[in-house]
Amino acid sequence: MKSFVSYVPTRLYFGVGETQRIGTETSSIGKKALLVTGKGSAKRSGLVDKVVGLLRGEGVEVFELAGVDPNPRLSTCLKGAEICRQQGVEVIVAVGGGSVLDAAKTTAAAALDEGDIWDVFLYKRAVSRAIPLVTLVTLAATGSELNPHSVIINDKTGQKFSLHSEHVYPKVSILDPQLTVTVPREHRVYGAVDIIAHVLEGYITAEGFSPLSDRTVEGLCKCVMESTERVLAEPGDLLARSDLMWCSTIACSGYAGAGYGTRYYDGHQIGHELSATYDLAHGATLSGLLPGVMAFNLKKHTPKLAQFARRVFNVDGSWRDTEVDVARKGIDSFKSWCAKMGAPVTLKEIGVKKQDLAAIAKRVLKNPEAQNLSEADVHEILSVSFE
Ligand code: NZQ
Ligand code: ZN
Repeated sequence: MKSFVSYVPTRLYFGVGETQRIGTETSSIGKKALLVTGKGSAKRSGLVDKVVGLLRGEGVEVFELAGVDPNPRLSTCLKGAEICRQQGVEVIVAVGGGSVLDAAKTTAAAALDEGDIWDVFLYKRAVSRAIPLVTLVTLAATGSELNPHSVIINDKTGQKFSLHSEHVYPKVSILDPQLTVTVPREHRVYGAVDIIAHVLEGYITAEGFSPLSDRTVEGLCKCVMESTERVLAEPGDLLARSDLMWCSTIACSGYAGAGYGTRYYDGHQIGHELSATYDLAHGATLSGLLPGVMAFNLKKHTPKLAQFARRVFNVDGSWRDTEVDVARKGIDSFKSWCAKMGAPVTLKEIGVKKQDLAAIAKRVLKNPEAQNLSEADVHEILSVSFE
């Protein structure tokens, strides 16, 4: 087991109906709030009006930053930061999926930053402070509610990179599974693949041996698959939605990989480039890439992939099967599950162009977090995943 640090300064409320707390929790932090929301789902469902009512009911003055795009843009965050500075905003309230939460985090940091915030995404310097953040999650996928990450597209450079800082951990996160009932089917499935990717990428490539993390990852993958199937069969199943929501929070919180030491998220880094190039949903890029990423890691990490096959998909293998054969059956089983759920399993399906692959491979290497890969590695993963 490798050494690790754990620091999670977030108060988390989980359960159906917990939305009610947003007014009191926010007002205990500040009386001037910037409410950050997405393109319209929370407005249409009546959630925005409800939240505004709860905030005002506790004496909180509300300013709004609406219209955050899926694949949030830096320009939106900078606009939010300007509102914060002009209005003296004391707390930011994010109501939405991962895109809204991430936009709120970068807004919170940019509002108190004196330089070019993109330098932080380029690893040139760190964030030193941020406006406190309250989140109300409407989609189970990214785990942004309990982590220090924010993934943003710079609309000037076309890059999709990440900011990591303890200063952007939410102060309070509210997880109310009832809010996820309106999530469209495709985003439900993309979210499930994203949750699995958050634990699986680290599991496959882990440098260290951590049996509890292995069991956590394997259990999490099974729980996500089971609860996704239940949610798709019965959209009103709040128990299944609760399971999925908690899986999502834990998967990207760092706990599921404790003790693994160095590990790589190649699917994520390549996926971010695809999202930046074609404005694709994050989970769609992952379901297209993950089987290819697993195959790419097969030679170096055969035992781990064979363990995944046995423990998650009950692959037995015949007496003739080598460990590589067993591992391959696990990869095939995962790909079949994604296809069964309706997730795309090739890049061609999501509109990636074959003639773009070489240029995409080059661009991935500009990402400061993709330094373990060579251009040839990225090209191999893209090509294997293409069709
Ligand atoms: O924009 P609105 O109108 O709200 O619609 C959204 C959007 O169209 C909709 N939606 C969300 N909740 C809904 C709903 N529709 C109906 N009912 C609801 N309750 O779903 C669509 C997708 O929303 P989005 O927030 O983009 O999805 P997700 O939560 O998957 O977030 C994806 C973003 O998070 C980043 C991704 O790269 C991507 O930009 N990630 C953030 C991470 C983090 N902060 O830790 C880690 C992840 O690996 C990921 O990179
Ligand atoms: Zn992800």
